[in-house]
Amino acid sequence: MNYLQAARAGGYAVGAFIVDSLDAMEGVAAACGRAGLPAVMMAGMNTARFLGPERYVDLCRSVGRSCSVPVYAHLDHCTDPALLLQCARAGFDCVMFDGSQQSFEKNISACAVLAEECHHLGTLLEGELGVIAGQEEHVESALSQFTDPALAEEFVRRSGVDALAVSVGNAHGLYQGKPELQFGLLEELSARCPIPLVLHGGTGIPAQDIRRAVGLGVCKINVGTELRRAYLDAVRDYAAQEGGTAIGLSQAIRERITAASVGYLDNYRAEGCGHAAL
Ligand code: 13P
Repeated sequence: MNYLQAARAGGYAVGAFIVDSLDAMEGVAAACGRAGLPAVMMAGMNTARFLGPERYVDLCRSVGRSCSVPVYAHLDHCTDPALLLQCARAGFDCVMFDGSQQSFEKNISACAVLAEECHHLGTLLEGELGVIAGQEEHVESALSQFTDPALAEEFVRRSGVDALAVSVGNAHGLYQGKPELQFGLLEELSARCPIPLVLHGGTGIPAQDIRRAVGLGVCKINVGTELRRAYLDAVRDYAAQEGGTAIGLSQAIRERITAASVGYLDNYRAEGCGHAAL
């Protein structure tokens, strides 16, 4: 059983956070350790290219050695198959191919080719069906297009992906007003898709909605905007103080990132689910 299947079986979700520095990773790892949940460190394409896939994996492994919970490296929203395979070869535990801007058939065929290669390397592949509103690096859409359950079932069967990102009223970036997650749709997707479901756009989803989504089979929840904001706020606030040091800045960033992540992780267990067995 892989770590996403274990989450689905255990009634919890793993916390997946966009992080691109050692301090941010340490901050997330501390929060996940406290929550007793696996930590998923996510790099977007820009970070994977900037640091290099090997360096990113090395950082995750290094953080994982001093963490009480498993730490996984994940590539988020990749539209470049060559980069995706480079990350899989470098040891990323899971990579996401974002074919949401392509036709259904092209999305399936691209995922099927990548899934075969990834599985050969021991890497999980996350796919996406439907369109999530908002912007995440290279992928942007003004409107969302909800994931169709019948198409999702076919997509999962034919593409060979290990996890599916769904569009159910979630959006990247800050929500305009209260997010309206479609729980009936999520329930149907869960019933039809035997693989773990992923909820993107975690920033700003109310706690009770997150708990309900986890109860309906969501096994990984992505958070980016909130952590970017926490990082930059920590740098700004620390720089405004007198007599700072480089280590003091690192500590301030870690603490702020931990505080921001803990708030999410508190809701990643379905009602009635005890401490996750890792
Ligand atoms: P937010 O930035 O809205 O938290 O979403 C992040 C995300 O889903 C990355 O895949």
